[in-house]
Amino acid sequence: MNPPPLATREVAREERFRTVWTQELNRVFADVAPYYDRANHVASLGLWKWFLDSFLNTIELRPGQRALDVCAGTNAVGIALLEREPAIEVHAIDRSGDMQEVGRQRAQAKGFRIHGVIGDVHELPFPDNHFDIVTIQWASRHLRVKRVFGEIHRVLKPGGRFHHCDMLRPANPLVEKLYYGYLRFCLAFTGFVFRSGPAALNCKQYFLSALQMFYSAEELSIVLRDLGYREVAAKTLLAGMIGFHRGTKPLPG
Ligand SMILES: C[S@@+](CC[C@H](N)C(=O)[O-])C[C@H]1O[C@@H](n2cnc3c(N)ncnc32)[C@H](O)[C@@H]1O
Repeated sequence: MNPPPLATREVAREERFRTVWTQELNRVFADVAPYYDRANHVASLGLWKWFLDSFLNTIELRPGQRALDVCAGTNAVGIALLEREPAIEVHAIDRSGDMQEVGRQRAQAKGFRIHGVIGDVHELPFPDNHFDIVTIQWASRHLRVKRVFGEIHRVLKPGGRFHHCDMLRPANPLVEKLYYGYLRFCLAFTGFVFRSGPAALNCKQYFLSALQMFYSAEELSIVLRDLGYREVAAKTLLAGMIGFHRGTKPLPG
C-alpha cells in the first residue's frame, strides 16, 4: 500500500486513526503494561536492548542537563539516560498511568528518580526553552507528529537536541513487504503467548496500518527540517525498518 503524499500525510493519518488514538490506545497500553517489556524482547528476537543501546549511542549527555522523555511508557529511555549519566535531571510524560506505574517501579528499583507526569503529549505542560534534551522512542506512529514535534521544539532550549527513535516505513518495497509479514506474525504470536486482552487484540491491524501510513527515514528528516530543526541527521538499522533522528533547535539570530 502506498501512503498518501508527504504534503497530506499528517491530515490523512489523523483522519484515519483519530478514533484509535483518542479512544482505544490508552486501553491497549493499560492491557500490555505488565508484559510490555518482555513482549518486546520476544518480538524483537532479543534485539530490544541493542536497539535501545544504539539509540542511546546517538545522544551526548553532560552533567547538569535537564532531559524529557516523551511517551515514556515504562521509562526505558529515562533509566538508560540515568545509567549513562546519573548527574542529569530526567522528566517523563505519558498518557498511560499503567505504563508509568511500571516505569516508576523500574526506576525506583535502580535507585533513580524520574519526574513523571501523566498527560497527553500534544500539549506539553512545560515552559518554553526548558530542556537540553528531549527524546521519544517507539511512539510517534501513534501521534500527530507535527503537533508533538512542534511542542518539543518549543520546550527545547536554543541549542538543545531532539532525539527520535521509531519503527519507520522502509523505502525498499521488498523489505517493506517482508517487514509487515514478520510484524503480522509477531502481533499474533505475542498476543497468544502473553494472553493479550480484547483491547490489544482488536488493535492488531491498527499497528500495521499505522506503520504503513508512517514516514520513511528521509521523509521524517524533511518533516523535522520543515518544523525548524537544524543539523538534522538520521541513522537507520535493518534496511530502514528502524530509524534514529536527531535535530537541534537553532540559537536565536
Ligand atoms: C509503544 S509505547 C513506547 C514506550 C516507551 N517510549 C518505550 O520506549 O518503550 C508508546 C507509549 O506512548 C504513549 N502514548 C501514546 N499516545 C499518547 C499521547 N497522545 N500522549 C501521551 N502518551 C501517549 C502510550 O501510553 C505508550 O506508553
